[in-house]
Amino acid sequence: MKVSIIGSGAMGSGIAQVAATAGCEVVVFDTNPASLKKAQEKLTKILARLVEKKRITPDESSKINTLHTFTENLDQVTGSELVIEAIIENLEIKKQVFADLEKRVDANCVLASNTSSLSIASIASACKHQERVIGIHFFNPAPLMPLVEIIPAICTSDSVTTLVQEIIKGWGKTIVLAKDTPGFIVNKVARPFYGEALRIYEEGIADFATIDWAMKNLGGFKMGPFELMDFIGNDINYKVTESVFQAFYSDPRYKPAFTQRRLSEAGWLGRKSGRGYYNYAEGSEKPNATEDAELGKKILNRILCMLINEAADTLFWNIASKEHIDLAVTKGVNYPKGLFKWADEIGIDTVCKQLSDLYNEYLEDRYRTSPLLKRMLQSGQKFYS
Ligand SMILES: NC(=O)c1ccc[n+]([C@@H]2O[C@H](COP(=O)([O-])OP(=O)(O)OC[C@H]3O[C@@H](n4cnc5c(N)ncnc54)[C@H](O)[C@@H]3O)[C@@H](O)[C@H]2O)c1
Repeated sequence: MKVSIIGSGAMGSGIAQVAATAGCEVVVFDTNPASLKKAQEKLTKILARLVEKKRITPDESSKINTLHTFTENLDQVTGSELVIEAIIENLEIKKQVFADLEKRVDANCVLASNTSSLSIASIASACKHQERVIGIHFFNPAPLMPLVEIIPAICTSDSVTTLVQEIIKGWGKTIVLAKDTPGFIVNKVARPFYGEALRIYEEGIADFATIDWAMKNLGGFKMGPFELMDFIGNDINYKVTESVFQAFYSDPRYKPAFTQRRLSEAGWLGRKSGRGYYNYAEGSEKPNATEDAELGKKILNRILCMLINEAADTLFWNIASKEHIDLAVTKGVNYPKGLFKWADEIGIDTVCKQLSDLYNEYLEDRYRTSPLLKRMLQSGQKFYS
């Protein structure tokens, strides 16, 4: 099968590696020769490391290598069965690329976008055959992250959705289906992990280290919110929050925090700049957490209930199924368990009580309880039973 990847940056190069590892012939196109060269060098290094660690044989490594073609010539996409676009997050530029692609591929070629924040319908509007356009959202780094969100737009045909699910499953990925709504599943459901942690900090309830300690030690999360934001990059994480907030017509649930905005503006981007919520300069020590069990429990419960509320509302609005939402958070952001499973364990009554306490205290729409949780509380239902 011939697959083309448009854009050879962080995502494009990773997706190309995934496709070639699954045996596809892969054309990687980019308008920037320096980016193509970097992607080629990165692939060589990664393959050498995989051979060294005995994850693949030298023969497999050279096969994966020869399956890649790096090019500045878009005509080389001709004959592809699937094209995945992973260029700069700009709607006008993406639309131009899709129009250019459609002139070069066969009638049955599927055109996909890896966009994180744009609607698939808006990208598809550039095409004559909109039924072939779909979202295929990989996570970074694509070769290591198991989850892929598949996003059919209103125009996408059922046969294209089925075909894409089969292809991506065949590449060894766990797939979930999501509606073409802002943030799809993961980038929507995970917002309170960052947003509520920032709010707790801004209110002066606890410092970064204490909030991170509570989420890791009491909640079982692999990284605390501030460690994770520093890892992702405060510029990127802030932009995703801002775009989800705007796309949901300023719903206060997704309101960005000034703390993160200032860090981003100051260039305190996290690990990549050496300074974020924490200082990563050599010799600098991480601040100690206040290991107060009662405070920790309060922090964990507040963030966890906001996450459960967001997941419940995502189900309430039929953006994805219950099973896919739980899969998305465990495989896409490594949560220790699915949020619905967690809600059942804590009890829907406890979750609703925490949310209504927050609402009554602040009288902010941000803390409104999802109608789904309210109905479940009334009927005594659980998510899984
Ligand atoms: N980085 C992430 O964590 C992440 C995760 C999931 C999805 N995404 C999405 O994937 C896409 C790519 O993100 P990235 O992080 O790989 O970006 P990146 O900046 O690393 O790479 C983008 C590449 O696209 C190339 N490019 C720009 N305009 C082009 C054009 N007209 N034609 C061909 N190539 C062009 C650039 O030269 C660059 O090599 C974006 O839509 C982003 O929202 C990113």
